[in-house]
Amino acid sequence: EKRAKQAMLEAHELVSKLYHYVLTETPYGVEAMKYLTKRGMSRQTLTEYQIGFAPDSWDFVTQFLKKRSFSQDLMVEAGLLAKSEAGKVFDRFRGRVMFPIHDSQGHVIGFGGRLLDNTHPKSSQPKYLNSPESLLFNKSATLFNLHRARSTMRKRKQALLFEGYVDVVSAWQAGFMQGVATLGTALTEQQARILRRNVESVVLCYDGDAAGQEATSKAIHVLQQAGLIVRVAPLPQGVDPDDYIRQHGAEAFSQQVLLQAMPVTAFRLKHLRSQYVINDETDKTRLIAKAVEIINELDSPVERDLYQRQLAEEYSLTLGDLKWESKRAYKQQ
Ligand code: CTP
Ligand code: MN
Ligand code: MN
Ligand code: MN
Ligand code: MN
Repeated sequence: EKRAKQAMLEAHELVSKLYHYVLTETPYGVEAMKYLTKRGMSRQTLTEYQIGFAPDSWDFVTQFLKKRSFSQDLMVEAGLLAKSEAGKVFDRFRGRVMFPIHDSQGHVIGFGGRLLDNTHPKSSQPKYLNSPESLLFNKSATLFNLHRARSTMRKRKQALLFEGYVDVVSAWQAGFMQGVATLGTALTEQQARILRRNVESVVLCYDGDAAGQEATSKAIHVLQQAGLIVRVAPLPQGVDPDDYIRQHGAEAFSQQVLLQAMPVTAFRLKHLRSQYVINDETDKTRLIAKAVEIINELDSPVERDLYQRQLAEEYSLTLGDLKWESKRAYKQQ
Protein backbone atom coordinates (compact mmCIF):
# COMPACT_ATOMS: atom_id res chain seq x y z
CA GLU A 1 0.00 0.00 0.00
CA LYS A 2 2.78 2.43 0.82
CA ARG A 3 4.47 1.74 -2.50
CA ALA A 4 1.19 2.13 -4.35
CA LYS A 5 0.67 5.50 -2.70
CA GLN A 6 4.21 6.54 -3.56
CA ALA A 7 3.67 5.66 -7.21
CA MET A 8 0.39 7.56 -7.28
CA LEU A 9 2.08 10.65 -5.83
CA GLU A 10 4.87 10.43 -8.34
CA ALA A 11 2.41 10.09 -11.23
CA HIS A 12 0.38 13.09 -10.05
CA GLU A 13 3.49 15.21 -9.80
CA LEU A 14 4.60 14.26 -13.31
CA VAL A 15 1.17 14.65 -14.87
CA SER A 16 0.60 18.06 -13.28
CA LYS A 17 3.90 19.22 -14.81
CA LEU A 18 2.84 17.71 -18.13
CA TYR A 19 -0.54 19.50 -18.13
CA HIS A 20 1.14 22.79 -17.20
CA TYR A 21 3.67 22.33 -20.00
CA VAL A 22 0.92 21.56 -22.52
CA LEU A 23 -0.92 24.72 -21.52
CA THR A 24 1.98 27.11 -21.49
CA GLU A 25 4.43 25.78 -24.06
CA THR A 26 2.55 23.89 -26.79
CA PRO A 27 0.04 24.61 -29.57
CA TYR A 28 -2.46 22.27 -27.83
CA GLY A 29 -2.70 24.80 -25.02
CA VAL A 30 -3.29 27.91 -27.09
CA GLU A 31 -7.07 27.92 -26.88
CA ALA A 32 -7.08 27.24 -23.14
CA MET A 33 -4.44 29.91 -22.66
CA LYS A 34 -6.68 32.42 -24.45
CA TYR A 35 -9.59 31.37 -22.29
CA LEU A 36 -7.63 31.82 -19.05
CA THR A 37 -6.17 35.12 -20.17
CA LYS A 38 -9.66 36.34 -21.01
CA ARG A 39 -10.66 35.33 -17.50
CA GLY A 40 -7.95 37.60 -16.18
CA MET A 41 -5.42 35.07 -14.98
CA SER A 42 -1.86 36.33 -15.07
CA ARG A 43 1.11 34.28 -16.17
CA GLN A 44 2.44 34.41 -12.60
CA THR A 45 -0.81 32.94 -11.29
CA LEU A 46 -0.74 30.13 -13.85
CA THR A 47 2.78 29.28 -12.70
CA GLU A 48 2.08 29.55 -8.96
CA TYR A 49 -1.01 27.32 -9.24
CA GLN A 50 0.57 25.01 -11.84
CA ILE A 51 -2.60 25.37 -13.85
CA GLY A 52 -2.56 23.17 -16.93
CA PHE A 53 -4.49 21.78 -19.84
CA ALA A 54 -5.45 18.19 -20.60
CA PRO A 55 -5.53 17.88 -24.39
CA ASP A 56 -8.65 16.50 -26.03
CA SER A 57 -7.16 13.05 -26.54
CA TRP A 58 -8.08 9.54 -25.39
CA ASP A 59 -4.53 8.35 -24.84
CA PHE A 60 -2.18 11.28 -24.28
CA VAL A 61 -1.68 10.68 -20.55
CA THR A 62 -2.20 6.94 -20.97
CA GLN A 63 0.83 6.75 -23.29
CA PHE A 64 2.85 9.11 -21.11
CA LEU A 65 2.35 6.94 -18.03
CA LYS A 66 2.85 3.71 -19.95
CA LYS A 67 6.26 4.88 -21.14
CA ARG A 68 7.19 5.49 -17.54
CA SER A 69 6.04 2.00 -16.53
CA PHE A 70 3.23 2.96 -14.16
CA SER A 71 0.71 0.18 -13.60
CA GLN A 72 -2.46 0.98 -15.55
CA ASP A 73 -4.75 -0.40 -12.88
CA LEU A 74 -3.07 1.75 -10.28
CA MET A 75 -3.43 4.83 -12.48
CA VAL A 76 -7.13 4.06 -12.96
CA GLU A 77 -7.45 3.77 -9.19
CA ALA A 78 -5.66 7.10 -8.82
CA GLY A 79 -8.15 8.65 -11.22
CA LEU A 80 -5.66 9.84 -13.83
CA LEU A 81 -6.95 7.22 -16.24
CA ALA A 82 -10.34 5.57 -16.63
CA LYS A 83 -11.42 2.13 -17.77
CA SER A 84 -14.35 1.27 -20.03
CA GLU A 85 -16.66 -1.64 -19.32
CA ALA A 86 -14.85 -3.51 -22.06
CA GLY A 87 -11.63 -3.04 -20.12
CA LYS A 88 -10.09 -0.39 -22.31
CA VAL A 89 -7.99 2.19 -20.48
CA PHE A 90 -8.14 5.85 -21.54
CA ASP A 91 -7.43 9.40 -20.32
CA ARG A 92 -9.92 10.51 -17.69
CA PHE A 93 -9.43 14.25 -18.29
CA ARG A 94 -9.84 15.43 -21.87
CA GLY A 95 -10.08 18.98 -23.16
CA ARG A 96 -10.10 20.51 -19.70
CA VAL A 97 -8.25 23.25 -17.85
CA MET A 98 -6.58 21.46 -14.97
CA PHE A 99 -6.32 22.74 -11.39
CA PRO A 100 -3.95 20.58 -9.34
CA ILE A 101 -5.17 19.87 -5.81
CA HIS A 102 -2.49 19.52 -3.14
CA ASP A 103 -2.38 17.98 0.31
CA SER A 104 -1.34 20.09 3.29
CA GLN A 105 2.32 19.41 2.57
CA GLY A 106 2.03 20.53 -1.04
CA HIS A 107 1.95 17.19 -2.85
CA VAL A 108 -0.41 16.92 -5.81
CA ILE A 109 -3.10 14.39 -4.90
CA GLY A 110 -5.85 15.14 -7.41
CA PHE A 111 -7.22 17.50 -10.03
CA GLY A 112 -10.23 19.61 -10.75
CA GLY A 113 -10.77 19.88 -14.50
CA ARG A 114 -12.90 22.56 -16.11
CA LEU A 115 -14.31 22.45 -19.62
CA LEU A 116 -13.43 25.35 -21.86
CA ASP A 117 -16.49 27.53 -22.32
CA ASN A 118 -16.86 26.80 -26.00
CA THR A 119 -16.11 23.09 -26.12
CA HIS A 120 -18.91 20.51 -26.08
CA PRO A 121 -21.44 23.32 -25.79
CA LYS A 122 -24.49 21.11 -25.71
CA SER A 123 -22.97 17.93 -24.34
CA SER A 124 -23.91 16.37 -21.05
CA GLN A 125 -20.34 16.74 -19.79
CA PRO A 126 -20.20 18.33 -16.35
CA LYS A 127 -18.51 21.76 -16.20
CA TYR A 128 -16.11 20.47 -13.56
CA LEU A 129 -14.76 16.96 -13.36
CA ASN A 130 -12.80 16.13 -10.21
CA SER A 131 -10.49 13.25 -9.38
CA PRO A 132 -12.27 10.41 -7.59
CA GLU A 133 -11.51 9.47 -4.01
CA SER A 134 -8.45 7.27 -3.78
CA LEU A 135 -5.72 6.08 -1.47
CA LEU A 136 -4.25 9.51 -2.07
CA PHE A 137 -7.25 11.78 -2.29
CA ASN A 138 -9.71 12.07 0.58
CA LYS A 139 -12.05 14.89 -0.46
CA SER A 140 -13.65 15.37 2.92
CA ALA A 141 -10.26 15.92 4.58
CA THR A 142 -8.80 18.20 1.90
CA LEU A 143 -9.11 21.93 1.32
CA PHE A 144 -8.02 23.41 -1.98
CA ASN A 145 -5.06 25.82 -1.50
CA LEU A 146 -4.48 25.05 2.19
CA HIS A 147 -0.73 24.61 1.82
CA ARG A 148 -0.39 28.08 0.26
CA ALA A 149 -2.93 29.84 2.45
CA ARG A 150 -1.83 28.49 5.81
CA SER A 151 0.82 31.02 6.76
CA THR A 152 -1.37 34.04 5.89
CA MET A 153 -4.35 32.42 7.60
CA ARG A 154 -2.37 32.01 10.80
CA LYS A 155 -1.00 35.54 10.70
CA ARG A 156 -4.46 37.03 10.17
CA LYS A 157 -6.13 34.48 12.49
CA GLN A 158 -8.75 34.27 9.77
CA ALA A 159 -9.54 32.16 6.73
CA LEU A 160 -11.65 32.94 3.69
CA LEU A 161 -13.79 30.04 2.53
CA PHE A 162 -14.91 29.92 -1.11
CA GLU A 163 -17.04 27.57 -3.19
CA GLY A 164 -14.85 27.36 -6.26
CA TYR A 165 -11.22 26.87 -7.23
CA VAL A 166 -11.36 29.89 -9.48
CA ASP A 167 -12.60 32.09 -6.64
CA VAL A 168 -9.58 31.09 -4.55
CA VAL A 169 -7.18 31.72 -7.41
CA SER A 170 -8.78 35.05 -8.29
CA ALA A 171 -8.66 36.21 -4.67
CA TRP A 172 -5.03 35.12 -4.37
CA GLN A 173 -4.13 37.09 -7.49
CA ALA A 174 -5.85 40.14 -6.01
CA GLY A 175 -3.77 39.83 -2.84
CA PHE A 176 -6.11 37.84 -0.58
CA MET A 177 -3.97 34.84 0.14
CA GLN A 178 -5.79 33.21 3.04
CA GLY A 179 -8.47 31.59 0.85
CA VAL A 180 -9.39 27.93 0.60
CA ALA A 181 -12.24 26.00 -1.00
CA THR A 182 -14.04 22.71 -0.61
CA LEU A 183 -13.87 20.32 -3.54
CA GLY A 184 -17.32 20.44 -5.06
CA THR A 185 -18.91 18.96 -1.93
CA ALA A 186 -20.49 20.37 1.21
CA LEU A 187 -18.11 21.47 3.97
CA THR A 188 -17.32 18.54 6.27
CA GLU A 189 -16.59 18.37 10.01
CA GLN A 190 -13.06 17.29 9.20
CA GLN A 191 -12.46 20.34 7.01
CA ALA A 192 -13.86 22.58 9.74
CA ARG A 193 -11.50 21.01 12.29
CA ILE A 194 -8.55 21.62 9.97
CA LEU A 195 -9.55 25.27 9.77
CA ARG A 196 -9.95 25.48 13.55
CA ARG A 197 -6.40 24.23 14.02
CA ASN A 198 -5.17 27.23 12.04
CA VAL A 199 -7.55 30.12 12.73
CA GLU A 200 -10.17 31.50 15.09
CA SER A 201 -12.57 32.82 12.53
CA VAL A 202 -13.80 32.17 9.02
CA VAL A 203 -15.36 34.53 6.51
CA LEU A 204 -17.74 32.65 4.23
CA CYS A 205 -17.54 33.95 0.65
CA TYR A 206 -19.93 31.69 -1.21
CA ASP A 207 -21.66 32.60 -4.45
CA GLY A 208 -24.42 35.21 -4.38
CA ASP A 209 -27.13 32.83 -5.54
CA ALA A 210 -29.71 30.55 -3.95
CA ALA A 211 -27.33 27.57 -3.93
CA GLY A 212 -24.65 29.69 -2.30
CA GLN A 213 -27.07 30.90 0.39
CA GLU A 214 -28.17 27.36 1.21
CA ALA A 215 -24.57 26.15 1.31
CA THR A 216 -23.75 29.11 3.58
CA SER A 217 -26.46 28.15 6.07
CA LYS A 218 -25.11 24.62 6.23
CA ALA A 219 -21.47 25.66 6.47
CA ILE A 220 -22.25 28.08 9.32
CA HIS A 221 -23.50 25.21 11.43
CA VAL A 222 -20.51 22.98 10.72
CA LEU A 223 -18.02 25.77 11.39
CA GLN A 224 -19.68 26.83 14.63
CA GLN A 225 -19.71 23.23 15.83
CA ALA A 226 -15.95 23.21 15.34
CA GLY A 227 -15.67 26.30 17.55
CA LEU A 228 -15.03 28.87 14.85
CA ILE A 229 -16.35 32.42 14.76
CA VAL A 230 -18.20 32.84 11.48
CA ARG A 231 -18.99 35.86 9.36
CA VAL A 232 -20.74 35.95 6.00
CA ALA A 233 -19.49 38.20 3.21
CA PRO A 234 -22.34 39.75 1.19
CA LEU A 235 -22.12 39.27 -2.58
CA PRO A 236 -24.56 40.86 -5.02
CA GLN A 237 -27.23 38.59 -6.48
CA GLY A 238 -25.86 36.29 -9.17
CA VAL A 239 -22.23 37.26 -8.59
CA ASP A 240 -19.45 35.04 -7.26
CA PRO A 241 -16.18 36.26 -5.73
CA ASP A 242 -14.25 35.78 -8.97
CA ASP A 243 -16.88 37.78 -10.92
CA TYR A 244 -16.84 40.49 -8.26
CA ILE A 245 -13.07 40.87 -8.23
CA ARG A 246 -12.94 41.06 -12.01
CA GLN A 247 -15.76 43.61 -12.18
CA HIS A 248 -14.81 45.81 -9.24
CA GLY A 249 -11.21 45.06 -8.32
CA ALA A 250 -9.32 44.14 -5.18
CA GLU A 251 -9.98 47.35 -3.25
CA ALA A 252 -13.75 47.04 -3.63
CA PHE A 253 -13.63 43.37 -2.70
CA SER A 254 -11.84 44.30 0.49
CA GLN A 255 -14.04 47.29 1.40
CA GLN A 256 -17.45 46.27 0.08
CA VAL A 257 -17.36 42.53 0.59
CA LEU A 258 -14.84 41.31 3.17
CA LEU A 259 -15.12 44.26 5.55
CA GLN A 260 -18.92 44.12 5.29
CA ALA A 261 -19.02 40.50 6.39
CA MET A 262 -21.99 40.00 8.70
CA PRO A 263 -22.27 38.11 11.97
CA VAL A 264 -24.26 34.90 11.64
CA THR A 265 -27.43 36.30 13.24
CA ALA A 266 -27.50 39.27 10.89
CA PHE A 267 -27.07 36.90 7.94
CA ARG A 268 -29.87 34.64 9.12
CA LEU A 269 -32.23 37.58 9.62
CA LYS A 270 -31.40 38.87 6.15
CA HIS A 271 -31.88 35.39 4.67
CA LEU A 272 -35.23 35.13 6.45
CA ARG A 273 -36.43 38.46 5.03
CA SER A 274 -35.46 37.36 1.53
CA GLN A 275 -37.56 34.21 1.87
CA TYR A 276 -40.81 35.86 2.93
CA VAL A 277 -43.24 37.79 0.82
CA ILE A 278 -45.09 40.16 3.10
CA ASN A 279 -48.60 41.07 2.03
CA ASP A 280 -50.41 41.61 5.27
CA GLU A 281 -50.22 41.61 9.07
CA THR A 282 -50.40 37.81 9.26
CA ASP A 283 -47.30 37.43 7.08
CA LYS A 284 -45.55 40.12 9.05
CA THR A 285 -46.37 38.47 12.38
CA ARG A 286 -45.04 35.13 11.15
CA LEU A 287 -41.84 36.72 9.96
CA ILE A 288 -41.34 38.48 13.28
CA ALA A 289 -41.97 35.21 15.15
CA LYS A 290 -39.25 33.51 13.07
CA ALA A 291 -36.88 36.41 13.62
CA VAL A 292 -37.51 36.20 17.36
CA GLU A 293 -36.57 32.51 17.28
CA ILE A 294 -33.29 33.28 15.53
CA ILE A 295 -32.45 36.01 18.04
CA ASN A 296 -33.36 33.76 20.96
CA GLU A 297 -30.65 31.33 19.92
CA LEU A 298 -28.00 33.85 20.94
CA ASP A 299 -26.39 33.13 24.30
CA SER A 300 -25.42 36.69 25.09
CA PRO A 301 -28.25 38.85 26.51
CA VAL A 302 -26.48 41.96 25.29
CA GLU A 303 -26.37 40.64 21.74
CA ARG A 304 -30.01 39.57 21.96
CA ASP A 305 -30.95 43.06 23.09
CA LEU A 306 -29.09 44.66 20.18
CA TYR A 307 -30.91 42.58 17.58
CA GLN A 308 -34.26 42.99 19.33
CA ARG A 309 -33.87 46.76 19.18
CA GLN A 310 -33.11 46.58 15.46
CA LEU A 311 -36.10 44.35 14.81
CA ALA A 312 -38.43 46.55 16.86
CA GLU A 313 -37.30 49.59 14.93
CA GLU A 314 -37.60 47.87 11.57
CA TYR A 315 -41.22 46.87 12.14
CA SER A 316 -42.22 49.85 14.32
CA LEU A 317 -42.86 47.72 17.40
CA THR A 318 -42.28 48.76 20.97
CA LEU A 319 -39.26 47.07 22.48
CA GLY A 320 -41.48 45.98 25.39
CA ASP A 321 -43.87 44.08 23.12
CA LEU A 322 -41.02 42.44 21.28
CA LYS A 323 -39.33 41.33 24.51
CA TRP A 324 -42.62 39.95 25.73
CA GLU A 325 -43.07 38.02 22.48
CA SER A 326 -39.54 36.78 22.77
CA LYS A 327 -40.03 35.44 26.32
CA ARG A 328 -43.23 33.73 25.27
CA ALA A 329 -41.52 32.04 22.32
CA TYR A 330 -38.68 30.96 24.57
CA LYS A 331 -41.04 29.30 27.06
CA GLN A 332 -42.90 27.50 24.29
CA GLN A 333 -39.74 25.74 23.10
N1 CTP B 1 -18.50 21.94 -9.07
C1 CTP B 1 -18.32 20.61 -9.40
N2 CTP B 1 -19.00 20.08 -10.48
C2 CTP B 1 -19.83 20.86 -11.22
C3 CTP B 1 -20.03 22.20 -10.88
C4 CTP B 1 -19.35 22.72 -9.80
O1 CTP B 1 -17.57 19.91 -8.75
N3 CTP B 1 -20.45 20.33 -12.27
C5 CTP B 1 -17.76 22.48 -7.93
C6 CTP B 1 -16.39 22.97 -8.34
O2 CTP B 1 -15.49 22.68 -7.30
C7 CTP B 1 -16.59 24.45 -8.49
C8 CTP B 1 -17.62 24.73 -7.39
O3 CTP B 1 -18.43 23.58 -7.34
O4 CTP B 1 -15.40 25.15 -8.32
C9 CTP B 1 -18.46 25.97 -7.60
O5 CTP B 1 -19.29 25.81 -8.74
P1 CTP B 1 -19.63 27.02 -9.70
O6 CTP B 1 -19.98 28.21 -8.89
O7 CTP B 1 -20.62 26.55 -10.69
O8 CTP B 1 -18.26 27.21 -10.48
P2 CTP B 1 -17.21 28.40 -10.39
O9 CTP B 1 -16.26 28.07 -9.29
O10 CTP B 1 -17.86 29.71 -10.35
O11 CTP B 1 -16.41 28.17 -11.74
P3 CTP B 1 -16.43 29.06 -13.07
O12 CTP B 1 -16.27 30.48 -12.66
O13 CTP B 1 -15.24 28.52 -13.82
O14 CTP B 1 -17.70 28.79 -13.78
MN1 MN C 1 5.67 27.52 -15.84
MN1 MN D 1 -22.30 28.50 -7.99
MN1 MN E 1 -19.23 30.27 -8.78
MN1 MN F 1 -17.23 31.59 -11.18
